[in-house]
Amino acid sequence: MPPEQPEVLFSREDIAKKVAELAGTISSNYQGKRPLMVGILKGSFVFLADLIRMMTIPVEVDFVILSSYGLGTESSGKVKVICGLEQSIEGRDVIIVEDIVDSGTTLSHFLDDLQKQNPATLKLCVLVDKTSRREKEVQIDYSGFHVDDEFVVGYGIDCREQYRHLPDICFVKE
Ligand code: IMP
Ligand code: MG
Repeated sequence: MPPEQPEVLFSREDIAKKVAELAGTISSNYQGKRPLMVGILKGSFVFLADLIRMMTIPVEVDFVILSSYGLGTESSGKVKVICGLEQSIEGRDVIIVEDIVDSGTTLSHFLDDLQKQNPATLKLCVLVDKTSRREKEVQIDYSGFHVDDEFVVGYGIDCREQYRHLPDICFVKE
């Protein structure tokens, strides 16, 4: 059976506008600074690439690969860092860039771990916030779109490694 054609939820024009807004806000909040933008792979790679190119201040970029789920489908409640940061974040202005915050499990643990490494500041920028699904509290400092309980794909976000290449944020009916 061919894969279901996803429906557009936020168009590429909506996304470009939102990313420009976020980039503008972040740039003005970090005037005279050089934040370290940390993308959480893989879902954030398109968002981060667009975001930094709309910013008007210099930045550094790093990536991490996280897994919050063990072998089973139940959350283990612990974040496993599969590939970590290249540099120390002590004294740095760090902005975590994530595709989606759903239950909040992944980020709440990861942010706690990072906070222990004494960054000067630690903020979170998220493209899609699923507030109604939250189980662990996570403070989102810069957020793009809100969705309820839809499973979204595209613009770097996948469903079983499919759909990342779509230029719009779409939802797939299950
Ligand atoms: P959390 O730990 O439950 O907040 O999980 C967040 C992660 O689950 C995100 O970074 C995504 O990788 C994945 N995720 C949650 N919702 C979706 C979705 O609608 N589409 C694709 N991935 C999702
Ligand atoms: Mg993710």
